[in-house]
Amino acid sequence: MSYIDKPFRPYAPGTQPPNDSPAYRSTILRHPEQKLLKIPQTVTEISGPVFTPEQYKPTENLAVINGHEALGERIIVEGHVRDEDGRAVPNTMVEIWQANAAGRYNHARDQHDAPLDANFHGAGRVFTDEHGAYRFITIKPGAYPWGNHHNAWRPNHIHFSLFGAGYASRLITQMYFPGDPLLELDPIFLATPDKLARQRLIAKFDLGVGKPDWALGYRFDIYLRGRLATPMEG
Ligand SMILES: [Fe+2]
Repeated sequence: MSYIDKPFRPYAPGTQPPNDSPAYRSTILRHPEQKLLKIPQTVTEISGPVFTPEQYKPTENLAVINGHEALGERIIVEGHVRDEDGRAVPNTMVEIWQANAAGRYNHARDQHDAPLDANFHGAGRVFTDEHGAYRFITIKPGAYPWGNHHNAWRPNHIHFSLFGAGYASRLITQMYFPGDPLLELDPIFLATPDKLARQRLIAKFDLGVGKPDWALGYRFDIYLRGRLATPMEG
């Protein structure tokens, strides 16, 4: 049996966010109303295109543009991408996007009354190496208000998208920061019912990941499947 045919166990109940999460209001507009249809994956879905650093230049430091540094608390984020058996997943394109230190995205639709930073675009990509490890430098994103309910604020977070070998192997999630008081108020974080599974979305503060006198560090390991699977957005 090749890895292509290998079945994998369904997620344990509550460890992934449901498609419809009433407290996260806009999910009602996006979730399917019909029962999901299983489409068998063939070579077309699970092989190429393979994204490579040669084609898609990595952005190891999001916090510098043309030699000018972004404002904010400089941080280093690193971690591993692993499968259900803890094996490294190499050559995975990890795309990241986030708000600036003031809590504003560099995007026309973000009209939050907070300053933009000319030296921070807030998007980049890196690739996992042969050990499944990735690393990037950025600034800690600020919290921002969103219209979900009265005085709703998103906790500090970085969006992640992971591409495996093909388009059908894309996974999207968010990384949060430890000790954030907004976590327990955030319907997106709370959409994953299982408390232990939610904790897997919170990066670990790690001085060893940082660089002395230069940046603090966080470790965020991502598990694609299995008991330790990272909650993903549907
Ligand atoms: Fe966001």
